[in-house]
Amino acid sequence: MRLLMVLASCLLLAACNGVAEDASGAEIFEHSCASCHSQDASGGVGPPLNAGSNASEQPDSFLTETITRGRGSMPAFDFTEEQLQRLVEHLRSLP
Ligand code: HEC
Repeated sequence: MRLLMVLASCLLLAACNGVAEDASGAEIFEHSCASCHSQDASGGVGPPLNAGSNASEQPDSFLTETITRGRGSMPAFDFTEEQLQRLVEHLRSLP
């Protein structure tokens, strides 16, 4: 059912990112980011994103540009505006 909804949102919104359209910021992070930045965002293949990291001190535009355009070996992601907003809010709330 979830897969069907994702497929439907791919068709309707051209936002085929494998994440449910109404996924929370934490769910999006877990699904798309944790494999490289680790579950608690303390860093892995990618740099840390949690409180005190370089990323946490950058403006929202730095985060959204990194996510939508990619950076270095990090791939670009095709999230809806709302998903992006929830994801950035989640990054800002990381301890
Ligand atoms: C395939 C591994 C991979 C995935 C998946 C990934 N990243 Fe990254 N990310 C990286 C790498 C590697 C860098 C460092 C890029 C560079 O500066 O060359 C990076 C850099 C970043 C930066 C900039 C950090 C800084 O201090 O310069 C942010 C912000 C970021 N990632 C957020 C995310 C978010 C949010 C997601 C999930 C939507 C995500 N990343 C998914 C590998 C990944």
